[in-house]
Amino acid sequence: MKRTLITGITGQDGSYLAESLLSEGHEVHGLVRQASLMQRSRLDSLPSCSAARAEGRLKLHYADLTDSSSLQWLVRQVKPGEIYHLAGQSHVKVSFDLPEYTAETTGLGTLRLLEAMRQNVPEARFFLAATSEIFGEPSESPQSETTPVNPINPYAAAKLYALNLVRVYRKAYGLFACAGILFNHESPRRGENYVTRKIARGAARIAKGLERELHLGTLTPRRDWGWAPDTVEGMRAVLGAGRPDDYVLATGETHSVGEFCALAFEAVGLDYRDHVVLDPEYARPVDITETRGDAGKAARELGWRPRTPFPELVRRMVEAERAALEERAPAD
Ligand code: NAP
Ligand code: GDD
Repeated sequence: MKRTLITGITGQDGSYLAESLLSEGHEVHGLVRQASLMQRSRLDSLPSCSAARAEGRLKLHYADLTDSSSLQWLVRQVKPGEIYHLAGQSHVKVSFDLPEYTAETTGLGTLRLLEAMRQNVPEARFFLAATSEIFGEPSESPQSETTPVNPINPYAAAKLYALNLVRVYRKAYGLFACAGILFNHESPRRGENYVTRKIARGAARIAKGLERELHLGTLTPRRDWGWAPDTVEGMRAVLGAGRPDDYVLATGETHSVGEFCALAFEAVGLDYRDHVVLDPEYARPVDITETRGDAGKAARELGWRPRTPFPELVRRMVEAERAALEERAPAD
């Protein structure tokens, strides 16, 4: 039985990854952090995770990316064969408000975890969730593993540091350390303050008469939006490869925030132009105009390809919001 450690198991990607690994019989250990409320709704709602916890195949452990002694202890105790490092402060706009915390968790947290692996389980495999944000305003399109980097926000700067560390530990110590350069990927489990979930939720609530307006920062940026479970499959392919390397995981398509709004509101029979209000509160000091990834290397070397078309992604997100509202209706 393979033993896998996931940081960020309570997040969008971590929950899909845990499900995928558990379905294949892995023993999964998840890092969770202390909070006054147990924020594990993404895991608790999954029957496979509840069953695996009861069987002892899914174990959650308290630790924190800011606390190296807890990471050392965790890696020493669990002795994982694989580590998926998905945790960190991941919101671009929030990283302008919390630049030091973002560097501590997303940047230095990766160093602490790599050290814990090097000192305790140097034979293990390590995956870092890196990001297309490292390219900043990209100098070429589409962006690949060789596109020049130029981060324009504290989150991207911290992730670039983390990616460089993965490369250093691979080269200097011979560790099986890899990174996925992940473009935006979405699902109904996306955090509520990311734009796709915000739009899907807003469209469903407006259609139900619970709200009238949806406030957004801008409609013009374009993103390469994929389906999170497809991306998680890609992460597993990266870690299962014959040699450690870094791979772009992306769809190769790009769509604007406005296009996402149009499809989401159309799915509930509305016109977004009647409801979306531009609000400077949600605008950023600087923003990337467009991302579009070239996942050709992952396709050639790993056989990975995204499978979910953009309109289907939007439809699934809106449908999930509507279903959630129906479930909640009696209590509202
Ligand atoms: P997410 O939903 O925001 O989840 C982040 C996870 O990190 C949560 O489990 C969170 O725990 C945990 N975390 C945050 N700070 C921590 C700390 N100090 N100590 C321990 N755990 C901490 O993120 P996601 O969308 O699943 O993304 C997964 C990873 O991929 C992230 O590193 C993100 O930067 C990267 N990425 C994501 C995308 C994307 O489009 N989704 C694209 C590129 C890269 P709590 O539940 O306790 O908050
Ligand atoms: N969050 C948010 N809220 N974004 C908005 C809003 C709003 O009200 N209005 C417009 N946007 C725009 C943002 O300015 C950005 O151009 C785009 O919508 C997408 O924003 P997010 O959904 O917050 O995602 P992101 O692209 O900034 O970052 C995500 O993808 C990165 C990969 O490219 C995150 O998941 C990062 O962690 C990830 O690295």
